[in-house]
Amino acid sequence: MSFTSKELFARAQQVSPGGVQSPVRAFKSVGGTPIFFKSAQGPYLYSVEGGEYIDFCQSFGPLILGHRDPDVAARVQEMIGKAWTFGACEPYSLELAEWIVENVDHVESVRFVSSGTEAVMSACRLARGATGRNKIIKFEGCYHGHVDSLLVKSGSGLAGVAASDSAGVSENVASETIVLPLGDKEAVSRAFEKHKNEIAAIIVEPLPANFGLLKQDPEFLEHLREVTTQEGALLIFDEVISGFRVAMGGMAELSGVTPDLVTYGKVIGGGFPVGGYGGKKELMEMVAPMGPVYQAGTLSGNPVGMVAGLATLAKMQKESVIPRLTERADNLVEAIGGHIRELELPLNIVNQGSLMWIHGSTKPEPQKLSEIGDKQAEIFGELFYHCLEEGLYLAPSGYEVSFLSWAHSEKIVIESSLRFRRALTRLKETMSS
Ligand SMILES: Cc1ncc(COP(=O)(O)O)c(C=O)c1O
Repeated sequence: MSFTSKELFARAQQVSPGGVQSPVRAFKSVGGTPIFFKSAQGPYLYSVEGGEYIDFCQSFGPLILGHRDPDVAARVQEMIGKAWTFGACEPYSLELAEWIVENVDHVESVRFVSSGTEAVMSACRLARGATGRNKIIKFEGCYHGHVDSLLVKSGSGLAGVAASDSAGVSENVASETIVLPLGDKEAVSRAFEKHKNEIAAIIVEPLPANFGLLKQDPEFLEHLREVTTQEGALLIFDEVISGFRVAMGGMAELSGVTPDLVTYGKVIGGGFPVGGYGGKKELMEMVAPMGPVYQAGTLSGNPVGMVAGLATLAKMQKESVIPRLTERADNLVEAIGGHIRELELPLNIVNQGSLMWIHGSTKPEPQKLSEIGDKQAEIFGELFYHCLEEGLYLAPSGYEVSFLSWAHSEKIVIESSLRFRRALTRLKETMSS
């Protein structure tokens, strides 16, 4: 017996808060009832009603090769035939760790966890343990998972809502976080003057991608590096989205700025629940059992996630996926940008490789929250439904970025461009009516 999305959502609301396992999935930001999907392959999602959509959400980023890439699937199936979890030493996490240490210059040692949130939480604990200081600087609109102390002026599911903070975070915990505007070098310097010897680390999304895509000037990241070095604090790059996506070495490679610690998630697990944090050996050796900073996990280094991650990264390297995917994304963005201009819509599109964002700011590449147009949620809500009608699935929020995967072949990219044109044309009609 098959059910519609509407029926399933009604049932889900009876047994889970908001009917979902993560807030953005509830379609609150775009209105309406969320679509329930039953399967996926390559660039496509299939709904319980039998609808087919070209997927630009890609599970919010892990699936850089698309859904169920055959090479990754083969490794996963082989692993499932051997074991699901050991809770003991095994060669699979070793192989992924060796691959990362060999291929990412600033990672000499890495510890795997089960999500990006855990990676960030552990990196912050390590920074506090290593420096003997408590405060952490974060930037407005950057999202670092649902770590208590970092749920202050956050992005992702909190983007665009009036209170960008979470209830349930104690004042004591929140007071350890200093929130500064993105791109504001002076504010960073002033914070260090004011809180002399109190700041353990700066954590930043070097490519902020959770409140739209807010590309930063390289000088900003360079300043963060200089000031942390001078002041004896650590620089943490949260590359949960950008790691292994914008370049194998993430934004650290693109910007030439080397962080002390880096956090990973998404691509590193090839679509399975994997996160990781890493950096200089000396620093990482402060983590238990070598050092006094405790961190552990029942399913950490889960073998299925480890082989999926390694199969993904190895294929990306072998087929030079990042530069080729970037070229495809640039072409799509240019085409969509062309449609927007021809239709004279009050929109822009910005990308960094395969991360793309359609926005209503008059500035083509906004860099901070105040530069995002105040009609973003409203315009996107309309565009989202026009896209759905065309069989294009975008993340259901105007503040989430879109992801292109390697499974979006050149043919799919051309087809997508045509569908975007039709969706944008209808947006134009509804906007002028
Ligand atoms: C930059 C960044 N850090 C951390 C996280 C948290 O990762 P997870 O959702 O796997 O806990 C996210 C999730 O979107 C993220 O984008």
